[in-house]
Amino acid sequence: MINFDKMNCKMGQKIRWGIIGLGNIAHHFVKDLAMVNDAEIIAVASRNIVKANEFAAQYGVKQSFGSYESLLQCEEVDVVYIATPHTFHVSIALMAMNYKKNVLCEKPLGVNTDEVERVIACARENKVFLMEALWSRFNPAVQKVKQLVDAKEIGDIAFVHADFAFYAMDRDLKGRVLNPELAGGSLLDIGIYPAFLAYILLGVPEKVLSTSSFYENGVEVQTSMIFKYPRAQAVLYSGFTSKSSMKAEIYGDKGVVCIQPRWHEAQGYSVEKNNEIENFPMPTEGRGYYYEIMEVNDCIRQGKLQSDLWSHQNSLDLIGILDLVRRQSGIVFPFEP
Ligand SMILES: NC(=O)c1ccc[n+]([C@@H]2O[C@H](COP(=O)([O-])OP(=O)(O)OC[C@H]3O[C@@H](n4cnc5c(N)ncnc54)[C@H](OP(=O)(O)O)[C@@H]3O)[C@@H](O)[C@H]2O)c1
Repeated sequence: MINFDKMNCKMGQKIRWGIIGLGNIAHHFVKDLAMVNDAEIIAVASRNIVKANEFAAQYGVKQSFGSYESLLQCEEVDVVYIATPHTFHVSIALMAMNYKKNVLCEKPLGVNTDEVERVIACARENKVFLMEALWSRFNPAVQKVKQLVDAKEIGDIAFVHADFAFYAMDRDLKGRVLNPELAGGSLLDIGIYPAFLAYILLGVPEKVLSTSSFYENGVEVQTSMIFKYPRAQAVLYSGFTSKSSMKAEIYGDKGVVCIQPRWHEAQGYSVEKNNEIENFPMPTEGRGYYYEIMEVNDCIRQGKLQSDLWSHQNSLDLIGILDLVRRQSGIVFPFEP
């Protein structure tokens, strides 16, 4: 359990957040954070103090820092959101937790199982809250669909199809999306979402088949995956060479659930049974980061060290599946042995 006195987080006081790495996603996240009553953004950190000051001025944040570590030394911060490229998640999360900060870390929590195990061990040692920011797990429509599937509303699941692709081949080869040195490629960036959907609905597959295509700099740009389960199969795809429908379809022996595009940030779903389709709109608050922020706040308030909805074991299972895909497809990062 978290010791509230030690972390200086009092009942009646908002949970005080800090953000590390002020790139694209940090701008979206901070807007949703402002919508959560029980949360307050009090500090931001960039490697560049001018950028940190500008971000702080734009969103009315009291404190800005020109190094990540100086934010972690700030006593008032209860929880940090780590929003850097994948390859820095582990080192920053370890540093944050050694400063006794609770951590919400962008996906993937680490680039392989070894990294994720190290982060989880550090959270246990320091008795701080840690969660991978797998925000789709907290999306209301995705949650509802999982409940329907678990309750066998569409019978036994036979087939899941989900994809996530957009055209990214015009991006900077040094940027995080296409740079192998930053663990770039479609799988860890967006393929993680279809893999996540199959995993939350069907569990860890008994067999994985996958194949990838690579760009001239060695970065993986297309991955097709088949997850085989005892009585079901999932056909999944991620890619940067074109867009895709970004629909998720779940076929049971008594009906079909469809999560409309873009399914990972769903605004509703439909159920088809007996040849009738019913639509269930479920618009999100903000872009949808709102819900994972609420979950982190609730867990911290309750003294929990991990979320029941997206636990440490869930992160380990998911990275284990992605490791399997990578082994099958030959995706190796230059910094890996
Ligand atoms: N949940 C979602 O919907 C979602 C969406 C997009 C991305 N993500 C995840 O969020 C993470 C960040 O993605 P992003 O699109 O925000 O990336 P980005 O725009 O490239 O920004 C990443 C930030 O990380 C910091 N950074 C630290 N070391 C860096 C380095 N060597 N090279 C580049 N940046 C470095 C920089 O912040 P400073 O300059 O301020 O230090 C940079 O602005 C990724 O892990 C990604 O998977 C999640």
